[in-house]
Amino acid sequence: NMSAVCVALSRNVLAIRNPGTMVMVRYAQTAAAPAPEPRIKKFQIYRWDPDTAGDKPRMQTYDIDLNICGPMVLDALIKIKNEIDPTLTFRRSCREGICGSCAMNINGGNTLACLNKIDSNTSKPTKIYPLPHMYVVKDLVPDMSNFYAQYKSIEPYLKKKDETQEGKDQYFQSVEDRQKLDGLYECILCACCSTSCPSYWWNGDKYLGPAVLMQAYRWMIDSRDEFTEERLSKLQDPFSLYRCHTIMNCTKTCPKGLNPGKAIAEIKKMMATYKEKKAAAS
Ligand SMILES: *[C@@H]1O[C@H](CO)[C@@H](O)[C@H](O)[C@H]1NC(C)=O
Ligand SMILES: *[C@@H]1O[C@H](CO)[C@@H](O)[C@H](O)[C@H]1NC(C)=O
Ligand code: SF4
Ligand code: SF4
Ligand code: FES
Repeated sequence: NMSAVCVALSRNVLAIRNPGTMVMVRYAQTAAAPAPEPRIKKFQIYRWDPDTAGDKPRMQTYDIDLNICGPMVLDALIKIKNEIDPTLTFRRSCREGICGSCAMNINGGNTLACLNKIDSNTSKPTKIYPLPHMYVVKDLVPDMSNFYAQYKSIEPYLKKKDETQEGKDQYFQSVEDRQKLDGLYECILCACCSTSCPSYWWNGDKYLGPAVLMQAYRWMIDSRDEFTEERLSKLQDPFSLYRCHTIMNCTKTCPKGLNPGKAIAEIKKMMATYKEKKAAAS
């Protein structure tokens, strides 16, 4: 019977199945490569489950062989969750630095787990905590409610005095005016910057923090928006804006390479001009 069925069992072995017999044939040209030495890396991860009565925050260590893991810290987290411990909890979605949901503190710095390469030095453990000084929902998941409420408070959308024209025509913008938004609109609201800011740590209830202030600035300088003065006026109190002491942790840590510290400095300049104008008018 010539209708033999070939089944590839592995890279090196073929099984040829005839009726009643099975013959294993070894390829001549491909000898099995020796298995590489495992490269075991320790991941020390913050764990806390408020739904388990009496559970206290602790660090849990997981061993991962870097030979069979993707290159990013998020790859290691997903591997741990899939293969070792399904109770490990963290946020992620896009795995390419766009959604902002995998923000966490890795080896002391706030960053996105999906953009952060695993340090290949296996004698150093990688330490992972949730974003600092935030309430924790579980494990690496921070409570973002206050951050989002603050974002909502700056009205992050185009505002016109005359709303009757809304939806009728495009609001045009010159190429130069559009360019003023570069470096601002790319923010993915991951909160890495705000949660690296000591002023935000101590006054996060009243100080808006660098991420939200940069978006406030983004709408202030949008040539199509007509509420610049009102936007400035809302930030005049001693906390919303003026708790920034230009420590610049925010700019140092931004995983998208943006500069919220500079945006805050620009708002302060605009505020000075706005106050002078108001004083002159009264
Ligand atoms: C790996 O980390 C250890 C411990 O911090 C350090 O002593 C060693 O020099 C590092 N190795 C390399 C290749 O950087
Ligand atoms: C922010 O800056 C302070 C002081 O410069 C430093 O001690 C701290 O580790 C920094 N925090 C982060 C998360 O970058
Ligand atoms: S520059 Fe301002 S917002 Fe940025 S870390 Fe320093 S105090 Fe915080
Ligand atoms: S400015 Fe950077 S660090 Fe801050 S929220 Fe936006 S993307 Fe994240
Ligand atoms: S998973 Fe979306 S930014 Fe990391």
